[in-house]
Amino acid sequence: MDLETLKSHALYPPLLLGCVALLASASLALAASATREAIREAEARDLRDSLAQVLPAGYADNDLLADSAQVETGRGAPLTIYRAKRDGVTCGAVFRVYGKGYGGEIVILMAVDQEGVLLGARVLKHTETPGLGDKIEAAKSDWIGEFSGKSLATARWAVKKDGGDFDQFAGATITPRAVVNAVHTGLETFRQHQSAILGRPADGNFSSLSPLGERARERGEFFPNETFSQEKEHGS
Ligand SMILES: Cc1cc2nc3c(=O)[nH]c(=O)nc-3n(C[C@H](O)[C@H](O)[C@H](O)COP(=O)(O)O)c2cc1C
Repeated sequence: MDLETLKSHALYPPLLLGCVALLASASLALAASATREAIREAEARDLRDSLAQVLPAGYADNDLLADSAQVETGRGAPLTIYRAKRDGVTCGAVFRVYGKGYGGEIVILMAVDQEGVLLGARVLKHTETPGLGDKIEAAKSDWIGEFSGKSLATARWAVKKDGGDFDQFAGATITPRAVVNAVHTGLETFRQHQSAILGRPADGNFSSLSPLGERARERGEFFPNETFSQEKEHGS
C-alpha cells in the first residue's frame, strides 16, 4: 500500500494521532525521569552539605547518607536518622525536627552524640519574616550556634522570656520559641529511642531491653537495627 492510499484510509487520522500521542508521552516520561534523577542528586548534595554543617569536622568517618535508618517513635511517620560512625561504631545521629513558626513550618536538622549532647543544629527551611524571624539562619546570626554542646540536662529549653536559657529576638519571640521547642522535642525523642536511634544499647546498658533484646544479649549478639524496630513495634 502506498502513502496516498494509506492517507485515504478511514483509520489513518486516528492512527496518526495515536502515534503522535505515544511519541509525546514517551518523550515526556523520559524528561520526567531525567528531572527526577537530577532532583534526587541535588537533594542528596544539599543534605550532605547540611550534615557537614551540624557535625564537627572529622567527627564521623562514614557516609551518613548511606547509613540512614527509619525509627518508629510512635508519633506519625517514622523518623529518618543518619548515623555518624567512627571505625564502624555509632557515635552520633542526625535527624530533622519541625517547628511551627510565625510564617509556617520550620525544618531543622540536628546532630547529637551518643549521650544526647547536641553537636549542632541548622535551619534547613523556613518562611519567617526577613529581618525579624530569620535570625534563626546560621548565615544571618550565630544564634543557633549557641545550641551546640547543650543537652537536656545542661540547659533550660525555652526562650528567656519563658524562663529558659535561649535569647528571643527583639519583637519576635514566636520564631525562636518554635526552634527551641522543636530541638527540645528532638532531644526528648533521642532520649526515649536512644537504643533504636544508635542501633545498639546505649553505653552497653542492657537494663531497659525488651525480652527480645534480652534473648539476643544472652546469645551474645550485637543488635542489628531490625531487632530494635521489631522491639518498638511490639511496644517495648
Ligand atoms: C508583619 C509582621 C511580621 C512578623 N514576623 C514575625 C516573625 O517572623 N517571627 C516572629 O517571631 N514574630 C514576628 N512578628 C511578631 C509577632 O506577631 C509577635 O508579636 C512576636 O513574635 C511576639 O514577640 P514579643 O513577645 O517579643 O513581642 C511579626 C509581626 C508582624 C506585624
